Amino acid sequence: MGPPDAILGVTEAFKADTNPKKMNLGVGAYRDDANKPFVLPSVRKAEEIIASKKLDKEYLGITGDAQFTKLAAELAYGRDSEPLKAGMISTAQSISGTGALRIGGAFLGRFFQGAGGKKIYIPSPSWGNHTPIFKDSGLDVAHYRYFDKATNGLDFAGMREDLNKIPSGSVVLFHACAHNPTGVDPTPDQWAEISRIAKQKNFTPFFDMAYQGFASGDTVKDAFAVRHFVADGHRILLSQSFSKNMGLYGERVGLFSVISDSADEAKRVDSQVKILIRPLYSNPPLSGPRIVKEILGNAELSAQWEKEVKLMADRIIDMRAQLRGHLEDTFRSKKSWSHVTSQIGMFCYSGLTPDQVDRIRSEFSVYLTRDGRISIAGITSSNVEYLAKAIHEVTK
Ligand SMILES: Cc1ncc(COP(=O)(O)O)c(C=O)c1O
Repeated sequence: MGPPDAILGVTEAFKADTNPKKMNLGVGAYRDDANKPFVLPSVRKAEEIIASKKLDKEYLGITGDAQFTKLAAELAYGRDSEPLKAGMISTAQSISGTGALRIGGAFLGRFFQGAGGKKIYIPSPSWGNHTPIFKDSGLDVAHYRYFDKATNGLDFAGMREDLNKIPSGSVVLFHACAHNPTGVDPTPDQWAEISRIAKQKNFTPFFDMAYQGFASGDTVKDAFAVRHFVADGHRILLSQSFSKNMGLYGERVGLFSVISDSADEAKRVDSQVKILIRPLYSNPPLSGPRIVKEILGNAELSAQWEKEVKLMADRIIDMRAQLRGHLEDTFRSKKSWSHVTSQIGMFCYSGLTPDQVDRIRSEFSVYLTRDGRISIAGITSSNVEYLAKAIHEVTK
């Protein structure tokens, strides 16, 4: 018997709790202000259009729907991206972000050989699935410093020092925006410096972009790091997900892409990516990309979607402000809670210790992972004060 998944375990315990005030802050999926799953109206509209077309259910090609991969790449890199226009970017529709990371891992596992062996460097901490994804792909996983527990912010000095120590030519993973689990991102100036270091050290950057638009409410702003690195000439690998920004969690739709030195090299990379995917799962699913391309390929629907992404991001930002407000003003907590609003995206790395997480669970029926990560999406205007009280009580 293997150990249970840490996050799914939280949900199981939550389900068994009979307290009517219970809160599940473990889930990584958006909820509306009534704590209900939210299907975007633009997605509903796209589904109606698709249903009316009475499309067939034939297999897609190994790297997916070409119109989808084009539109998804444009969303990430920008329509006027030079390498995109020059045909230097190979793309493959993926089983969402996880699948894109796994294809990238398999590609590196087969073709990459660095000074330190087959190794990828990820931030500490990082999304819990990064380590098993890359280990299962045949890579060793090592870490660079990222989070400063003393400030609940970025340990930029530590990060810079560690990046400078990593052997030249290594593969280094970055979260493009809304870092999970900390909610802490570098500033644009810090990204520019990270890009300079990465250039000096000839790193291959692998960006995980699971939250484009979901962080700030603006898909262009959230793509800053990726586009900045590309403009600096980095040959990046990129994982994209439409789980959060289109709420397409169970549809499993994403994109893996990689930039080559030339269009000719990109064709060879594309052929090797196909050879990797074919025995993994043969070809990707059909429904998710149809929704995405219906939205991104239709100016009106696309504008509507951008507004809906902003609506989700704004609710998250508002919940952060209310949580901090209650902690500081209603309950007069003496602790610093500025990180609740300075962090961004779905998660807040609250600074709660494992003991405090156990207490808040047993005394208040508030469920979160033991690293103190709070899914802000699980908070609503009717329970934010209760949560603030619970946090205040266990951190006094
Ligand atoms: C940082 C990060 N990367 C990737 C993913 C992958 O999600 P999905 O496979 O649903 O796209 C997630 C989901 O929580 C994530 O937080």
